[in-house]
Amino acid sequence: MVLSHPRMMVASVHSFGDHEEPARRLATALDSPWRPINVRRFPDEESLVRIVPQKGTAVVYCPLDHPNGRLVDLLLAASALRDAGAQPVVLVAPYLCYMRQDIAFRPGEAVSQKVVARLLSGAFDRIVTVDPHLHRTHDLNDVFSIPVMQLSAAPLLGAAIASDNPGEEPVLVGPDEESRPWVEAAARITACSSLVGRKVRRADRAVEIEIERLDIVRGRTVVLIDDMVSTGSTIRKATRLLLDAGATRADLYVTHMLSSIEDTAALYDAGTTRIVSTDSVRHPTNVVQLAPLLAGALSG
Ligand code: R5P
Repeated sequence: MVLSHPRMMVASVHSFGDHEEPARRLATALDSPWRPINVRRFPDEESLVRIVPQKGTAVVYCPLDHPNGRLVDLLLAASALRDAGAQPVVLVAPYLCYMRQDIAFRPGEAVSQKVVARLLSGAFDRIVTVDPHLHRTHDLNDVFSIPVMQLSAAPLLGAAIASDNPGEEPVLVGPDEESRPWVEAAARITACSSLVGRKVRRADRAVEIEIERLDIVRGRTVVLIDDMVSTGSTIRKATRLLLDAGATRADLYVTHMLSSIEDTAALYDAGTTRIVSTDSVRHPTNVVQLAPLLAGALSG
């Protein structure tokens, strides 16, 4: 869902060094300068964070994959920007962490989504994110106490599928019910037929998948679509089912590609032909750049 927010003139885009490339792309799209956030790690592993002082609207670009170490540095950077006179301080986190644990499933468990929402709401004035991986929460504005703009990369994935398959009609496949919105959005753009499977997860790396009407994939290219790939177990299982049913190739288009190098290699071993991900999380499969989408949301 895209919420409407007032137009913002962005004075500068700040990022840690490992996100320099996508942050610079965002800065270019906004016609704003990029500024580094420098981190010095002390021997005891505390951080000294230094920003380039800025007045006006400061955007901090920071995907929150592998978040545990990053969160503290991010809070320190936001505080330093505020101390230097930046206002508002906006977090652009194309991937937002800890969004799945939205209730305590067993007594004693932390409700991580609420904790992270409270932390980030205390540090920033606004957040822009893409395809947050939500289960029972539908609108992050119910959880954060600052405005959150939730964008979707589904139209960009649909457009990439259409341009990568000219004159062809691949079958679009979502491996589970949660992928349905992405598959349906891509199906509207590509006018391709689609299937959505059902998944039962037994453990982090053990899933069972059923897909009905599998006969329609015989002799066809299939394109799997999902919001997130983590261990790759879901996509591996779905890919095997589709290839065993006679699909000639199985491509994967995904917003957030979180898989390790080993898990990504296992996807190719399972028969995945091509992987296309957005640059929401830095990964060798990044093809689709989110900067225009993010810039449009910030300035539109
Ligand atoms: C389901 O909830 C998600 O859309 C993904 O299918 C899931 O997070 C993928 O996880 P993994 O790659 O570990 O199977």
